[in-house]
Amino acid sequence: MTQNEMKKAAAIKALEFIENDTIVGVGTGSTVNFFIDALASIKNKICGAVSSSEESTKRLKAHGIEVFDLNSVDVLDVYVDGADEITRHMAMIKGGGAALTREKIVAAVAKKFICIADDSKQVAVLGSFPLPVEVIPMARSYVARELVKLGGDPVYRQGVTTDNGNVILDVHNLQILDPKVLEAQINAIVGVVTNGLFALRGADILVLGCSDGIKVIQ
Ligand code: A5P
Repeated sequence: MTQNEMKKAAAIKALEFIENDTIVGVGTGSTVNFFIDALASIKNKICGAVSSSEESTKRLKAHGIEVFDLNSVDVLDVYVDGADEITRHMAMIKGGGAALTREKIVAAVAKKFICIADDSKQVAVLGSFPLPVEVIPMARSYVARELVKLGGDPVYRQGVTTDNGNVILDVHNLQILDPKVLEAQINAIVGVVTNGLFALRGADILVLGCSDGIKVIQ
C-alpha cells in the first residue's frame, strides 16, 4: 500500500467508532480529508460535525455535512484527527497544518480521541518533526528566545497565519523525553497560544494504516 492508501484505510476504519445520531469532532490534514470523504457516506446517520479548521469546515460543508459551533455542543463522543508523530504512550506532535489550537480545543471537549495515521507517524521519541507553537504575533521574538532556553531551534513559519490570526514557530532539534512536562512548560511562556504537543491529553485509540493492513491500538 502507498502512504495515501494507508491513510485512507485508517480513515475508513475510523467510521466504526462513530455512533448514530451523534456530532463528530473532526480534525485537520490530509488523513482527515480521507475521513471527511468517508464520513459523507454515513452523513444521514449522524447529526453533523464540529470542525477544527476553516479547511475542514469547507470540506465538510461541500459534502453536505452540517457544521456546528463548538459553543452550541455539550457533548462530543469522539474526535478524529491525524498526527505528525505519535508514540506508543499515545503522546503526539500535531500542527503541521497550523490548526493545532482549534484541534486541541475540540479534542478537550471530546470523550475519546481517535488518531488516524499511516505507520510512518509512529516514533519512539517525539521531536524529529519540528514542534509547532502558535504565538501571538507581537510576542514572536520573545517566545523564540524562551524556546531557545528550552533547548530548541525555533523557525518562523513564513507566510502562514493561523485561523486565529496568529503565527507559528516550528521548533527544531528537540528530543522530547517527557512530553507532558514540555507541553506545560511551553504553554506557560507568555505569548504562546498553545503548542503542538498533545501529551497531557493524548490519543485514546490509534488506528494505524500499515503495509500489511490496519492495526487498532488502545
Ligand atoms: C494539522 O494542524 C495537524 O495537526 C495534522 O493533524 C497533522 O499535521 C497530520 O496531518 P496529515 O494527516 O496531513 O499527515
